[in-house]
Amino acid sequence: MAISADFLVAMDTRSWELAGILARFVEPKLCPRRILCFTMGLRLRSRGTTRPAFGTASVRSDKKRRSSTCSIWRRDIPPARPARNGSDARATIAVIIPTFERPEMLQNLLVSLRCGNRIPDEVIVVDNDPKESANPAAIDGLSVHVIHAGLGISLSGARNVGWRSADSDICIFIDDDNVVEPDAVSQLGIACERREVGLAGPVVFAGDSGTVWCGGIYRSVWTGQTRCILGGESTMPAASTWYTDDMPDAFAIPREVLEEIGGFDEAQFPIHYDEADVNARIRKLGLETIVVRDAHVRHYGWVGLSPGSAMVRATANGGLERARQMALSRVRFHMIHSSGPPKWSAVGIFLPLWAVLTSIGCVGADASWRTRMAAVRAVSAGMISGYREALRVQSKQGNGQDMVEVKEKDWAESDGLIGALVPPARMVIANALKSLAFHSGLHRLIFYRYDYMFRPRELSLLVSCITETCGLTGPILEIGCAAGHTTVYLNKHLDDLEDSREYVCLDTFAGFTNDDIAVEVGRGHDRSRYSYLFRAYRKEWFDQTMANNHVDRVSSIQADVNAFDFSPYENVSLCLIDVDLMRPVERSLQEVFARMAPGGIILVDDCRPNLKYDGALAAYLEFAEEHDLPIDIREEKVGVIQVPNT
Ligand SMILES: C[S@@+](CC[C@H](N)C(=O)[O-])C[C@H]1O[C@@H](n2cnc3c(N)ncnc32)[C@H](O)[C@@H]1O
Repeated sequence: MAISADFLVAMDTRSWELAGILARFVEPKLCPRRILCFTMGLRLRSRGTTRPAFGTASVRSDKKRRSSTCSIWRRDIPPARPARNGSDARATIAVIIPTFERPEMLQNLLVSLRCGNRIPDEVIVVDNDPKESANPAAIDGLSVHVIHAGLGISLSGARNVGWRSADSDICIFIDDDNVVEPDAVSQLGIACERREVGLAGPVVFAGDSGTVWCGGIYRSVWTGQTRCILGGESTMPAASTWYTDDMPDAFAIPREVLEEIGGFDEAQFPIHYDEADVNARIRKLGLETIVVRDAHVRHYGWVGLSPGSAMVRATANGGLERARQMALSRVRFHMIHSSGPPKWSAVGIFLPLWAVLTSIGCVGADASWRTRMAAVRAVSAGMISGYREALRVQSKQGNGQDMVEVKEKDWAESDGLIGALVPPARMVIANALKSLAFHSGLHRLIFYRYDYMFRPRELSLLVSCITETCGLTGPILEIGCAAGHTTVYLNKHLDDLEDSREYVCLDTFAGFTNDDIAVEVGRGHDRSRYSYLFRAYRKEWFDQTMANNHVDRVSSIQADVNAFDFSPYENVSLCLIDVDLMRPVERSLQEVFARMAPGGIILVDDCRPNLKYDGALAAYLEFAEEHDLPIDIREEKVGVIQVPNT
């Protein structure tokens, strides 16, 4: 039996006694988790607990008093949310469907929307596939508008594009791997017409199985663990709505609520924990996030529960970055939305534990060894980024400064797991590791060594050119970036300047091409000089190096510069051409010079006579002559082309 709407109790009692009393009245399937939740809130007083909703009853703690006073009272059913146009007409409904390369599933969802007993006023399909694969067939009686946003893994971005281009009072977000049952849209719409509701989700079934995959989410503030409410059940509870912490895949939000919270947070939660974040922000407005028993959706995507398998799947389907986001968002979410002891319990103990268990789960998952290892790397990369971010937030809060991070530290101040230890333990571990390296010969790998392909004075020239072009807004190109050492160095300078220019790196990541070598052979050089140079590089290693150094403005492209389409780049502010041989330098100069911003600078490395890379010098001299440009070779090596300001 669910709690009656007319039930009214006020009591002074210990929280566990309260739990026992509640247990007799609450719907059995929902009861244990809910009561645990109340008691945590009441005993520790860590948050102003407002726990709706069993039927029409609520439970609140009395925040102002230290005693465990609670009351259960009848909620007056509020008036319906008025339609946006202020008339008595029913609220209009938009359905927003983010999609990525699943045309058949998308079509099934659209058909199910047409078969419902409330056909949405608008359907907005937001295609995140840059290849624009979503072109659904028209369905009579359903108004579908397709937007090719091409935002890749940014699910939040797609959802924002969708609701912002819709005009209806209520926005229902549904992922493309679901279909709706006939009552779903109308039931969610009715729930959202109630003033106190900020988000309403359906009961989501696991495909055609007849069992529930997710009837809402319970998230422990202490451990960060989440559980699907009603998961695996096949009978519905008596309560018509109940509270949820989060809602995956499908949910409705009134437009005015979306406007008030500013929509989804694309920057911090592009794909994971985006819904959790939205739910939390809605509740901070004092609104409820609920599940509606009579709204049913069927989910045909993955319904597994193992975090290791989820991580491996995300890596296989969405790449390393998507999986990294899964771990990173977890830390971010708890840093932003938790507080007090639960925050430190979740962030300090349970999230690292989750990372370890998930990594073990990844190793045991069903996928290639390479994918499983990539998933493990993604977990640790995401966690490390999350904790670094958290430490930065803490230290900014602590010292009130907002300086660009400059490394002035040794291993004793290491990040990651060592960094989490107290200072004396870090010092001991750092000393032990360094002496081990010193005595074992590992110092060759571990101790600092100068590892740039530029001399300090050339690096200094590059830094000056970045400073000189600082007022320009166009991108910086580095053609030939190898392992990214110079890239990191220059990006630290950009950070220091608070310069937000885009930085694009291009490389074959596999050394010189045969055609480029052939030109050098034709110029009298020996092929063997070039055949095996710069072959021990990979794009993903380069990307990892950027992530390890917290460089997030760089995008890397694997391509032969001779065949590369430069047309997307205009007003280039600075271009470093470091591809050594004549043919690729020639092509780079031809393509980039025409796309330079007034005041921009081109730098060509290796412009000096030598036996190996004189091709760069030849190309630079030839180009300067052809375009009547002054020969300006600085530091005996770097050819400079300064584009006039006008
Ligand atoms: C000297 S390294 C670049 C060094 C890097 N700028 C630095 O400072 O660390 C030259 C790079 O040019 C790349 N390269 C050579 N020919 C290329 C081509 N045709 N297209 C793209 N990259 C090329 C090589 O793979 C190599 O990584």
